[in-house]
Amino acid sequence: MTQYAHGLKRVGFTSGFGVLAATLGSAVGLGNIWKFPYLTGANGGAGFLLVYLLATLLVGLPVMIAEITLGRVAKANPISTLQALAPRRQPWWLVGVAGMLAAFLILSFYSEVVAWVFAYVVKAARGSILSSDRQVTEAAFGALISDPLQSLLWQWGVLVFIGSILLLGVTKGIEALTKKLMPLLFLLLLLLCLVSLSLDKAADGLAFLFKPDFSKITASVVLTAMGLAFFKLSIGMGTMMTYGSYFRDEQNIPLTTFRVMTADLCVSMLAGIAIFPAVFSFGFEPAAGPALVFITIPAVFSQIPMGQWLMVVFFVLAAIAATGAMLSLMEVPVVILNERLGLSRPKATLLTLFLLVLVGSGCALSNSTLAHFKLFGLTLFDLFDFVSSNIILPAGGIFIALFVGWVWGIDKFRLALTNHSQLHNEKLVQAVFLLLRYISPLLILIVMLKGLNVF
Ligand code: TRP
Repeated sequence: MTQYAHGLKRVGFTSGFGVLAATLGSAVGLGNIWKFPYLTGANGGAGFLLVYLLATLLVGLPVMIAEITLGRVAKANPISTLQALAPRRQPWWLVGVAGMLAAFLILSFYSEVVAWVFAYVVKAARGSILSSDRQVTEAAFGALISDPLQSLLWQWGVLVFIGSILLLGVTKGIEALTKKLMPLLFLLLLLLCLVSLSLDKAADGLAFLFKPDFSKITASVVLTAMGLAFFKLSIGMGTMMTYGSYFRDEQNIPLTTFRVMTADLCVSMLAGIAIFPAVFSFGFEPAAGPALVFITIPAVFSQIPMGQWLMVVFFVLAAIAATGAMLSLMEVPVVILNERLGLSRPKATLLTLFLLVLVGSGCALSNSTLAHFKLFGLTLFDLFDFVSSNIILPAGGIFIALFVGWVWGIDKFRLALTNHSQLHNEKLVQAVFLLLRYISPLLILIVMLKGLNVF
C-alpha cells in the first residue's frame, strides 16, 4: 500500500526510462560544465577530484537514495513528506523549509551563469569570442559580466524563459528534448576532448587532473569538494525528494541512483578533459575561478574547422542541460507554495519568479554595480554559492541521513528500497542504512566543522 500524504494520487513519471532521464536531467547541468572544472582548477586539481569522488560515494549516494525513497513513500513536497513520516511534534519538516531557502539562493546565482551561457550563444554566433588568445577571450567575458545592464537583462530573460516553460506546462516537452539532445552534448564534449588532447601541453593538463598532490588538500578544499558532491547530485534540499515523489513504485531506486551518479560523473570528467589540457597549452590560469570555462572553451573551438558554429551548438546544449537543472530547482518552491499554501501552480510559479528577480538581481550585479558590496568578504554571487553548497546542502544531508537512520528506521527503509520484497538487494539496503545511520552524518559534520574553521 502506498501512503499519500495528501490523500491524493499525484501525477508521476510514466516509464522507467523517463524516471532515469528526468533525474539525470536534474543532476546534469552547469555543475558539470561550469562548476566542476572551475572548482577543480581553483582547488589544485587531482587531489580535489579524488576527495570529490569519495564524497560522492560515501555521502552523496546514500543521501540521494534516502531522499528519493522518502519522497516516493510520502508522495508529497519535501515539507509534507517529512511531516508525514516523522512522529508528531518532531520538527523535521524544517529541513524542507531550509531546502526552499536553498533553492532560492542557488537559483539566484545559477540563473546568472545560465545568463552568461545564453549571452555566449549570441556572442559565438557573431564570432567575436573565437580565439586562442587569452587576452581576447578574457576581455570578452570581462566585458559581459562587468556590464550591469547586460547581466541583468540576460538573467531576466532566462527567468522569463524558464517561467514560460513552467506556465505553459511544457516541462514534459523540455524533458523529452533533454533526453534527445543530451547524447549530442556528450558527443560534442568528446570531440572537444580529442581536440584538447591533441594540443602540445595536453600531458600537463592531464597530470593536473589525475595526479594528486596531497599537500593541496586542506580542510576547506575537502568542504568544497563535498559541497560539490551535494550540488552535483541535486541533494540536501528536497529536489530529489520531490522527484522521488514522482517515481513509480516498481522503480529500482538504488540502481537508478547509481546510474545517474555514474553518468553525471562521466559528463564532468569529459568537461575536465576538454578543459585542462587547453588551459595548460594556451597558458590560461587553472585557478581562474567562475570565468574558467567561458574563457577556455572558445580557445578549444578556435582550433577546429567550423569551430564557430560548433561553439554555438555547444552553448545551446549547455543552456538546455542547465534548463533541466533549473526546472528541477524551481519545482521545490513551486510545489511547496502550491501544496502548502494552496496557491495555484501558475500563481506559485509567478511568485517564485518574482522573488527570484528580486534576489537574483543582486547576483547579476555582483561583478559590476555591487562588486564592492561584500558580506563576510564575499560578493552576493559568491556568498549564495558558498552558503548553499557548503552549509545548507550538507546540513540538509545530515538531517536526512539522521532521519532515515534513527527516526524512520531500517524496517520501513528496507520495505521501501526492496519494493516490498520484490527486489533482492538486502545486503545493499543494510550497507546504505549503516552509512546513513553512522558514517555519512558524522563525515559531513566533521568536514563542515573543520572546513568552516569551527575547530
Ligand atoms: N545538479 C545541478 C547541476 O549540477 C544543479 C541542481 C539542480 C541542484 N537541482 C539542484 C543543486 C538541487 C542543488 C540542489 O547543475
